[in-house]
Amino acid sequence: MTSTDHSRSDTVPARHGAGIRTFHPRRGRLSGRHLDALDRLWPSYGLMVPDPPEVQVDLSTLFGRRAPVVLEIGSGMGDATVAMAAADSGRDYLAVEVHTPGIANLMAVTERRALTNVRVARGDAIELLHCLPEASLDAIHVFFPDPWPKARHHKRRLIQPAHVELLGSRLVPGGTLHCATDWPEYAQQMRQTLTDDPALVNAYAGYAPRPEHRPVTKFERRALAAGRPISDLIFHRR
Ligand SMILES: C[S@@+](CC[C@H](N)C(=O)[O-])C[C@H]1O[C@@H](n2cnc3c(N)ncnc32)[C@H](O)[C@@H]1O
Repeated sequence: MTSTDHSRSDTVPARHGAGIRTFHPRRGRLSGRHLDALDRLWPSYGLMVPDPPEVQVDLSTLFGRRAPVVLEIGSGMGDATVAMAAADSGRDYLAVEVHTPGIANLMAVTERRALTNVRVARGDAIELLHCLPEASLDAIHVFFPDPWPKARHHKRRLIQPAHVELLGSRLVPGGTLHCATDWPEYAQQMRQTLTDDPALVNAYAGYAPRPEHRPVTKFERRALAAGRPISDLIFHRR
């Protein structure tokens, strides 16, 4: 696949009939550097979220081996994906993003660091989850999802009951759902929603201590500089 298959806009357009989206539509054009990365590296690292969603993604074929897979939803510029994949070569990391410059950056860094256990899906994570087999993921990471602070936008939040049921169904038994946020009210809602899901059990009595293996991203640095607390939640599938 080449960049001619990508829209020239820097985000993913809504699909006809798609539900309420959890991401901000962004307008803009891709830089030459990003287009170059997409052209050269897409065949090695890229996965377009299938349309129609009935198409199943075969993770062993995607990574060229059979190993536990970690899905990172909303990987942004890919900082956490790269750091965690580099430190964890026994597992494969599939990042999913709608923001094309972030996808291009992640592919470029993956190549530079010669990582073989990273792939990047372009599209809506909710649609991707429908294309993955049940009980196929060792872990799901949701780091600093868009907080959608206005009450009328809460329906756009990634962590909500229907999405959590879908996330849980894609985890292997004992698999991990790790969420982090700098938005205290969203943290409370996440904790309640995850606690209420019968398929999940909290690994801690409440919030998790900050795990050292979760790298600090730009979003976390910005939150800390603004004095906002960070909350981690780690749940397992029963
Ligand atoms: C606030 S940013 C955090 C990025 C990154 N996790 C970090 O900590 O730096 C949230 C990201 O999630 C992405 N996102 C939101 N909803 C998504 C979805 N349904 N599918 C894929 N990406 C999504 C957005 O495009 C955005 O880049």
